[in-house]
Parts: sequence; structure tokens; C-alpha cells
Amino acid sequence: MREVPLHIGFIMDGNGRWAKKRFMPRTAGHLAGLKALKKVILGCIDQGVRYATLYCFSTENWKRPADEVNYLMGLFSEKIMGELPFYNKNGIRLLTTGDISILPEDARRALQDAVRATEGNDVITVQLAINYGGQAEICQAVNRALSEGIREITPEVIRAHFDNPEVPPVEIIARSAGEKRLSNFLLFDSAYAEFAFYDKLWPDWDENDVCGIIDEFNTRVRKFGGLA
Ligand code: IPE
Ligand code: IPE
Ligand code: MG
Repeated sequence: MREVPLHIGFIMDGNGRWAKKRFMPRTAGHLAGLKALKKVILGCIDQGVRYATLYCFSTENWKRPADEVNYLMGLFSEKIMGELPFYNKNGIRLLTTGDISILPEDARRALQDAVRATEGNDVITVQLAINYGGQAEICQAVNRALSEGIREITPEVIRAHFDNPEVPPVEIIARSAGEKRLSNFLLFDSAYAEFAFYDKLWPDWDENDVCGIIDEFNTRVRKFGGLA
């Protein structure tokens, strides 16, 4: 029987290269990437995937030119709430992970509003990783636990102090655009995740690519340290 992963992580890479190939500014690639993101979410829904985490902006992406960073922040503030009918029609609940407190005010507010406005949706939970870094996530969880007076740090304690502890660990991480690295994505929860790398640039992704990931997932023998 074909098994559908409960949670897929997407490292959405290659927006800049996609634009460059078309002699367009990198920002055009990010806009095209947003369209792909919607198709991929619909693909997840069609396949019955219950959780998806999308890597939107890393703690390292601040190193990019100010124009590009500002454009991405603008996408968060202008496009996220604009898609509210899309989320509500399709039962999409939005969450964010990462420190959004340091985002420009309008971007932060739009994200918080979108999370609140989609709270009751239950077809799929889409976790947007924004100003997210796997190392920062672990440190933040440990610091939260320490500030509660917890003296013994265990894997369970760390997980319980994540931004959204109710989101189960990712079962497979898919990355577009050929790079074979995690780039600080889901370091803790990827302990037993499967990995799938694709050359296709993110803006070219659609519903079918989700089927491809699930097919790939079904070729893997997962043992979690035990025996098959
Ligand atoms: C991914 O595409 C989007 C973000 C990191 C925000 P890139 O912008 O990294 O695209 P490439 O890797 O330069 O092609
Ligand atoms: C990872 O892509 C971050 C996101 C997809 C948001 P990058 O393009 O930033 O990763 P590196 O720099 O190639 O490792
Ligand atoms: Mg990149």
C-alpha cells in the first residue's frame, strides 16, 4: 500500500537561478516561487499530506542585498493575507516557525493575522519557516526550558519548546534546484527524515512534484535504528 508521509518539508531553492535564466531580476523568481508554492500545497492536499513545512527565509538570508531582503519582506506583508480566500477555501491552517519578532512590523502583523484567521482550518497545516534556522530553533527551545526552571534537557524537552510542538517531525525533506544540503533547515526533527533532492528549480514545481516525492518516499526502507 502506498504510504503518504504525514509531514513533508520543502527547501524551496532556485528562485534566483530561474529568474536569471529568463534575464529577469531575482525578485521575479521569488514571485514565481510563490505561485509554485500554492500549487505544491494543493498537491499536498490532493495526496492527503497533513503537514507541510516550507522554508521561506533563513536566519542566513539576511546576508543578501537589502533590495532582495526588502522584496521578500514585502511579499510576506502584501501576499500572505491576500491569499486568505485560498487558505479558507482549501482548509489550510497557517503557522509560522522562526523568530518573526524582528521582521518589519507590517510583515510580522500580516503573518500573525493570517495565522489567526486560519486557526479553524483542518485539512492541512502549513508551517512557514521565516527567519528560521535549525540551530537557533534548538537554542531557543533550550533557553525557554531553562527559563521555566527545567534543569534536565532531553530531546522531549527540546521538542516541547518548539514554536509549534504539535507539528509532528518531518518524514521527508525535499529540496529543489540541485543543492544537496540542509542549509540549517529542521536540524533537530530531521534526525530520521528521508531526503530527496531534485534538479528542477522551485518556480517550476507543481502538484505532480508532490506525487513524485511520495513515490520516492515509498521506495525507502525506514528502520529508525531497528531492523527492517
Ligand atoms: C530560494 O531561492 C528562495 C530563498 C532563499 C528566499 P534562491 O533565492 O536561493 O535562489 P538561487 O539559489 O539563488 O537560485
Ligand atoms: C535555503 O536556501 C533557504 C531557503 C530556501 C529559504 P539558500 O539558497 O539560502 O541556501 P544556500 O545558501 O544555497 O545554502
Ligand atoms: Mg538558493
